Amino acid sequence: MIQIVSNPLEWQRQINAHRKSGWSIGFVPTMGALHAGHISLMHRSKKENDITCASIFVNPAQFDNSEDLDTYPSNCPSTREADIAALKRAGVDMLLYPETGSMYPDNYQYRVLEQELSQKYCGKFRPGHFDGVLTVVLKLLNLTHADHAYFGEKDWQQLVLIRRMAEAFFLETEIVPCPTVREASGLALSSRNARLSPKDQETAPWLYKTLISDISLAEMRTSLEDKGFEVEYIEEFNDRAWGKRLLAAVMLGKVRLIDNVERN
Ligand code: PAF
Repeated sequence: MIQIVSNPLEWQRQINAHRKSGWSIGFVPTMGALHAGHISLMHRSKKENDITCASIFVNPAQFDNSEDLDTYPSNCPSTREADIAALKRAGVDMLLYPETGSMYPDNYQYRVLEQELSQKYCGKFRPGHFDGVLTVVLKLLNLTHADHAYFGEKDWQQLVLIRRMAEAFFLETEIVPCPTVREASGLALSSRNARLSPKDQETAPWLYKTLISDISLAEMRTSLEDKGFEVEYIEEFNDRAWGKRLLAAVMLGKVRLIDNVERN
């Protein structure tokens, strides 16, 4: 049985009651259109906590482009049903499924601004994106007060920003990074992959193959452009806690893909 709650304050009340019973709480925030990558986070939470909670909220504040928001795959009733069925199969106990207005009673007048890392890499190409991500994640973490919250490593920059925000605001929830789940071809699973044309689905795995190849960053860019990708960036990033990664974002047709790999 999964319990679905739409009112954030009711969610907070119910979670508080569970915590008072002494149960540990794991939390997996998502924007729906769930795939095996999301489900791996649910399984990890199930292993490490007494109760696993998830949220599905397509957060308008993190979309810098209204077409991207309108075409985001979660925005249709059949996806909603498939998502709930997948969460039930994964054994998730509680789901927060709020209306937009209920998450932004302040009309987004209050927001979290990070001044440095959020302006680089993806932030350079998506102004305001990480303000929206950090703001909604802070709201969700405050509503849930989980012991652990699980985030995929595919969104590496997001993950680092969330962990640093949790440190900066003394949040008690531990931010747990979880490995990227890939198709056999190497393509990182993403809700956006569903929007790739059949031809682009064949091309897309080249992104990962290129990132793990033993060539210079300039050669990687050329190799991707030759295959038809429009490269936003390929750059190294060094986090004091989690080490060096190679991060990339590309457009393939109208679909934006990101990926990252460990760098020695
Ligand atoms: O990675 C996502 O799905 C979203 O950015 C998140 C963390 C759920 C915030 O809306």
